[in-house]
Amino acid sequence: MEIFNWKEILLPYEQAVNELIVKFNSIKQEYKIKGMHSPIEQVEGRVKAISSIIGKANKRNIPVEDVFEKLEDISGIRIICRFVEDIKKVVFIIRERVGKDMEVIQEEDYITNTKESGYRSYHLTIKYPIFTVDGRKDIKAEIQIRTLAMNFWATIEHSLRYKYNGNIPDELKERLQVCAEAAFMLDTEMTTIRDELLEAQKIVQIKNNLVNEIINNIHNLYFYAKVEKMNEFNQKFIELYQESNVDKLFEFNRQLEIMTRLYKVKYV
Ligand code: GTP
Ligand code: MG
Repeated sequence: MEIFNWKEILLPYEQAVNELIVKFNSIKQEYKIKGMHSPIEQVEGRVKAISSIIGKANKRNIPVEDVFEKLEDISGIRIICRFVEDIKKVVFIIRERVGKDMEVIQEEDYITNTKESGYRSYHLTIKYPIFTVDGRKDIKAEIQIRTLAMNFWATIEHSLRYKYNGNIPDELKERLQVCAEAAFMLDTEMTTIRDELLEAQKIVQIKNNLVNEIINNIHNLYFYAKVEKMNEFNQKFIELYQESNVDKLFEFNRQLEIMTRLYKVKYV
């Protein structure tokens, strides 16, 4: 009998998970650096445990060798969002990548079509190419996109499902359904706070840009102004910064720009 080398077989799936985590985290980082609200709050990934792969093969009555072709969630990525609206945005980001570095082969919207259990998430099955020493391999991966609240519920429900071997008692099942609706209500309520959050993030970004400009302008003045003058600027900046008044910072920056121009003329 041929030796079944799990480690070697699962390696490409691990590579796909690792690469996808890096890619989605980069998107999150880009939004953050631009001072924008990132639709991606958190990225998780895992390769399905060997015991779960064998379990699923048995349940579906397929030989373990065929399971790799048939299962779409050996590589699994989970993208957690703050708001329900962000989920659509992430789906859009993924669809934009089609034909570039991934293909979408299936979409399941368990948010519109909530499962009987109460489960909500948006699922995408993708095909993702990895490059190994033996060449290109297309790996199927399941991407689950859900809010923090949906994730909270699904994590708890999953543990209970595991505990009861898939047969959760009816009473508990009903309570979980109530919890799922409560979690979704939280999501709906949170949506009303979203605009407030987006505005706050914009203000932070404007302030950060302004501070960068001021520091740049003070630096430029080093060429032309006297040390005492420089200390004065620095002192003034620290005071204004502590005051946290964006209008005053704007005005200060305007003065710095005028000053730079004046000094330049004198210098020439
Ligand atoms: P399975 O992966 O065997 O469920 O087959 P499938 O592809 O037909 O299932 P589906 O697309 O409904 O779900 C895929 C994955 O979503 C599961 O492996 C779970 O991670 C998650 N999921 C689906 N339904 C539930 C649920 O009721 N509760 C929880 N906690 N997770 C669920
Ligand atoms: Mg599925």
